[in-house]
Amino acid sequence: MYQTITTTNEASILTITINRESKLNALNMETLREIKEAVIAANKDNTVSGIILTGAGAKAFAAGADISEFVNFNSKQANKMSADGHETMNTIERSGKPVIAAVNGFALGGGCELAMSCHLRVASENAKFGQPEVNLGVPPGYGGTQRLIQLIGKAKATELLLTADAIGANEAMEYGLVNDVVPAEDLLPRCAEILNKIAGKSPMAVAAVIRCINAHFAEGEDGFKTEIEEFGKAFETTDFKEGTDAFLNKRKANFAR
Ligand code: COA
Repeated sequence: MYQTITTTNEASILTITINRESKLNALNMETLREIKEAVIAANKDNTVSGIILTGAGAKAFAAGADISEFVNFNSKQANKMSADGHETMNTIERSGKPVIAAVNGFALGGGCELAMSCHLRVASENAKFGQPEVNLGVPPGYGGTQRLIQLIGKAKATELLLTADAIGANEAMEYGLVNDVVPAEDLLPRCAEILNKIAGKSPMAVAAVIRCINAHFAEGEDGFKTEIEEFGKAFETTDFKEGTDAFLNKRKANFAR
């Protein structure tokens, strides 16, 4: 049913693979639309506990927005492209189920922005991150100028955004851009390991934590206030009853998905 991605659901983990290997998984508008749809569908699917987003092949996660698609765009079309891309990134960031980017190779431009919209990033040792848009005469258009600052701070983000320099996995780890670096063959198992750990926790509390984290960066929202509200709301949930009952009765909590 999807044209540019594939999805597999194994042991409650949905893996979304960008499937344009011959183009280094460059993100055209259809790909971004399909990723958004797959994340929305996963959030409604109670057989899914977490999501891995990766790229087909050993060379690239995604080497950016598809340059051949946007090369002849006018300003209006470019605005729509950017707004639609932002919508996909926001959908991932706001997913109540955790999304991990499994970055296998190049994550450049839109590819880096896509990885940054995920809740966590695990990189293979050959991963390369960068925002090379200034080479093409444009600024990043899928949130790169904002999320890179959020993740690694203004000084290094400004340097990478202005120089278009790409950094390797270990440097990305040093800057706080990725959560872990592993050999390529361990990439998907490591992501699954993290998601399985989270899958044992309260899904309602996990979603609430994601909302609180996002509130920190949302304009006009006070993250502390959001936390107070989410804390209160949690007390009405079945997960709270289950989690506290399990603790008091010295048993393992069994949360419903
Ligand atoms: N958009 C469209 N096509 C892309 C692409 C992109 N962002 N990135 C790679 N491709 C295509 C190439 O055009 C090539 O297609 P072809 O075989 O039909 O000619 C194919 O993917 C393989 O890429 P190639 O450049 O031959 O591989 P490489 O190993 O020599 O170089 C990169 C790899 C990543 C350094 C290089 O592809 C590159 O610089 N890509 C663009 C990165 C970029 O500027 N991204 C930001 C876009 S906003």
